[in-house]
Amino acid sequence: MGIETSDDAGVYRLTPEIALIQTVDFFTPIVNDPYDFGRVAAANALSDVYAMGGKPLTCMNIVCFPVKDMDKLIFRSILEGGLDIVHKAEALMVGGHSVEDPELKYGLSVTGIVHPERFLTNAGARPGDVLVLTKPLGTGILATALKGRMLDDRTTAIVTEIMATLNKDAAEAMQEVGAHACTDITGFGLLGHGLEMAKGSKVCIRFYAGNVPVIPEAKTFASMGLIPAGSHLNERFCAKHLDVGHGIDSLLLNILADAQTSGGLLISVAKEKGDELVKKLRDRTTPAAHIVGEVLDGPAGVIQIR
Ligand code: CO
Ligand code: CO
Ligand code: CO
Repeated sequence: MGIETSDDAGVYRLTPEIALIQTVDFFTPIVNDPYDFGRVAAANALSDVYAMGGKPLTCMNIVCFPVKDMDKLIFRSILEGGLDIVHKAEALMVGGHSVEDPELKYGLSVTGIVHPERFLTNAGARPGDVLVLTKPLGTGILATALKGRMLDDRTTAIVTEIMATLNKDAAEAMQEVGAHACTDITGFGLLGHGLEMAKGSKVCIRFYAGNVPVIPEAKTFASMGLIPAGSHLNERFCAKHLDVGHGIDSLLLNILADAQTSGGLLISVAKEKGDELVKKLRDRTTPAAHIVGEVLDGPAGVIQIR
């Protein structure tokens, strides 16, 4: 499987039982603390493997570092943060590559395995499914607030922990109940990744706006007008495929389009298994465990907001 369904990992069959999953992600700092940045970047990079129902095996560091202008202790802290998350993922750090760059960047390339007939994509959602989200939205708005030095320490810690949480537990719960489709919510926001699922699965996706979990402080900043440019782009990109119901707050629409870093899984599961999945997620204390929508027959490739 390649890039055709907009999943951002590649899958390559090695044997009838084993397929390789390969994915890579790296970016500029999103939080100020270098150790936390390492954790968030690593959790984000590992996420695509979990979204497919795979198991990460090995990781490699990718580092761009302004070696002339920045203390090497920062470099060290970033790698420590990344390594701690890789250990939590029960994977191995086997190497990496660093280059000198005026702009700091960090992330991982990740290699995992999955059964070649049993991996999940965004293309398997079926009419009658319910959609479950495993992390609250709002990290894009709060990262922007943090950059503008508007975020207090408490909220910074909350949003950092959400982003540094691996999707491992969510993926395990999803596999125990048996899901039809999955994607992780990252830069295109819930709307954009939902739309990819609707297109990939040739179904209509209906989100219940009031059921979507949002970090409370993100609502506060959004109401102050702090919407990152990327979220507006996401909203505009989805606009012609959106059917927004009467009385939906435009602010909430902004939040549904908010670009996430290391967001949760959006899982499409048979309706009768929805509550069981939510319970298993709660038992594992994933950052959220909410039924946020349902899958309808059509119109295909449309997102309804109700
Ligand atoms: Co990616
Ligand atoms: Co992804
Ligand atoms: Co090298």
